[in-house]
Amino acid sequence: MKSLSFSSIFICLIFSCGPREKVSKEVFEEVNKNMEVKRLLEVDILDEAMIWGDSISIEEQNNLIANLQKAIEDGGLENAISYCNVNASKIVEEGLNNPEINIRRVSTKNRNPSNKPDEDEAPILDAYAYNVENNLQTDPSIQKIEDGEVYLYTKAIIFPGGICQNCHGDPTSEVSLGVQEVLKEKYPADRALGFKKGDLRGMWSIRIPKKEVVKRL
Ligand code: HEC
Repeated sequence: MKSLSFSSIFICLIFSCGPREKVSKEVFEEVNKNMEVKRLLEVDILDEAMIWGDSISIEEQNNLIANLQKAIEDGGLENAISYCNVNASKIVEEGLNNPEINIRRVSTKNRNPSNKPDEDEAPILDAYAYNVENNLQTDPSIQKIEDGEVYLYTKAIIFPGGICQNCHGDPTSEVSLGVQEVLKEKYPADRALGFKKGDLRGMWSIRIPKKEVVKRL
C-alpha cells in the first residue's frame, strides 16, 4: 500500500510538473516582457508629469506676478490685496484650461486658511522646510497618490523679497500700515507676514491625473 501511494505521487509529479514547468516558463517570460514595457512607460509618464508640472508652475507664477503688478499699477497695494483676495486662487485654477488638473499654493504660514496643506501635502512641505533650514537643495518632486492614479507635483516657493515684501515682509519696516489694516480686515488669522528673502514661503501643489499625462505621450 505504502509503495503504491508513493509511486502514484511520483507519477503524478512527473506528469504534472513537466508541462506546468513549460507553461510557467512561457508565462514568466511574457510577464517579464510586459513588466519591462510597463516599467519603461511608468518612467516615461513620470518624466512627462515632472516636465508638465514644471511648466505649469512657471506659467502660473508668471501669470500671478503679471496680474499682481497690473493690480498695483491700477490702484496701489491696497487694491492689489482685494484683487488677490478674489482672484489669486481663480487665476491659479483657471490659468490651465484643464479642469482635471488641480493646482494650488499651500503654506503652513498661510494668509488664507484655505491654503493650508492637506494630509498629502503636509509631509512634503515639511521636507522642503527642513531642506531650506539646512541649506539643502529643494528640487521639485512627484509623488503618486490615490492608488497611483494621480501624480502630486510639488515645488517649493522660496520667498524672493522684492515686490512680495510689500504684503509679506517685515511689518515694522516693509509692509505699510495701510496695507496691514486691509490685511487685518480681510484675513483676521493672517500668518503670512515677516518673510525674509530665502525663506520658504510655501509650495506649488499640482495634482495631475495619470490618464491626463498619458494623453500627452
Ligand atoms: C498686494 C499684496 C500682495 C503681494 C504684493 C503679494 N502677495 Fe502673496 N498673497 C496676498 C494675499 C491677499 C494672499 C491671499 C490670497 C487668497 O486669499 O487666496 C496671498 C497669498 C499668497 C500665497 C498663498 C499662501 C497663503 O499665504 O495663503 C503665497 C504662496 C504667496 N502669496 C506668495 C507671494 C509671493 C511669492 C509674492 C511675490 C511674487 C506675493 N505673494 C506678493 C497678497 C500679496
